[in-house]
Amino acid sequence: MEEEGTESRKQARLAIMELANMISVPMTLNAVVRLNVADAIWQDGANSPLSAAQILSRILPSGVGDAENLQRLLRMLASYGVFQEHLADGHRKFSLTDVGKTLVTDGEGLSYAPYVLQHHQDAMMRAWTYVHEAVVDPTKEPFERANGEAAYRYYPKQPEMNELMLRAMAGVSVPFIRAMLQGYDGFKGVQKLVDVGGSGGDCLRMILQKHPSIKEGVNFDLPGVVAKAPQIPCVTHVGGDMFKSIPQGDAIFMKWVLTTWTDEECKLIMQNCHKALPEGGKLIACEPVVPENSDESHRTRALLEGDIFVMTIYGAKGKHRTEEQYRNLSIAAGFPRFRAFHVDHFFTVLEFQK
Ligand SMILES: C[S@@+](CC[C@H](N)C(=O)[O-])C[C@H]1O[C@@H](n2cnc3c(N)ncnc32)[C@H](O)[C@@H]1O
Repeated sequence: MEEEGTESRKQARLAIMELANMISVPMTLNAVVRLNVADAIWQDGANSPLSAAQILSRILPSGVGDAENLQRLLRMLASYGVFQEHLADGHRKFSLTDVGKTLVTDGEGLSYAPYVLQHHQDAMMRAWTYVHEAVVDPTKEPFERANGEAAYRYYPKQPEMNELMLRAMAGVSVPFIRAMLQGYDGFKGVQKLVDVGGSGGDCLRMILQKHPSIKEGVNFDLPGVVAKAPQIPCVTHVGGDMFKSIPQGDAIFMKWVLTTWTDEECKLIMQNCHKALPEGGKLIACEPVVPENSDESHRTRALLEGDIFVMTIYGAKGKHRTEEQYRNLSIAAGFPRFRAFHVDHFFTVLEFQK
């Protein structure tokens, strides 16, 4: 072993301490979301730097609470770029960065905050202590090992989890779809669009608004999920199981669905899409696509972290795939034409055409 006093040993010991304490980062993020800190700082877009005591007085007006502990949370997240720290005369104040602003509730009641909360519910947290079991025995994902049931069967039976899942999906998907619709025009000529695994139907609602030529939308998801979906003009909610059959349409949209299933399951879902499409019809999927090579960039990390989340919560062999793996799935499911559109850093638009 090298001398512990060398620079490389100091850096290595520092790096492993950072990794070993990393749980503080998501749990602190979850804490500030639970405390509603982002909305408290934002207040009508002012985003003026506030001390922890000032923020505390907005989130707990009754005067209780510990401002010093809140400041500790804010400082740590400032080091991850969620808050900006302003130091003057020995006093610390905090405003929101662009990252922090993603947690602010917008005019439609949406933000990334429900996604953060959704990831840290008790049933999810229980799964994380079993990640190693996905290596020992991949027949059961950690979530099922911890909770006795697969996540998509578990959520609809728990009204709060079901509702949070709907809000979490909307909070992440609405800004993505907004961006996607600026850079992707593959919906031309479509009159009836089916969204498979469409959750509350937000993606479909936005696509139909942007493309009035689409006269009819079908939001297809599990019966327990569509039962809670809101009414949307020109959209019919249909409950069912994509492994059995999928409603017919000129084109099929699917977002964040394939990633949670094994290759064999994806092939089956895609074959059911194939049956539901006319000749030349397209399946348009938006999925996280991992790069071939690993590196330390934010993008690669976010995609690889999401891959472990999928392994832990949804399926030990569900995965974030590479573009090449999707190309192979395309051929296996009977779609000879495959194209990828990079309109976003997290989700890639994948076109599979008959
Ligand atoms: C990660 S969510 C994505 C939701 C939505 N597409 C979005 O991106 O906002 C996956 C969706 O697939 C649905 N799903 C899971 N199993 C399904 C099945 N067997 N048939 C239909 N939908 C299913 C879930 O209920 C959930 O709404």
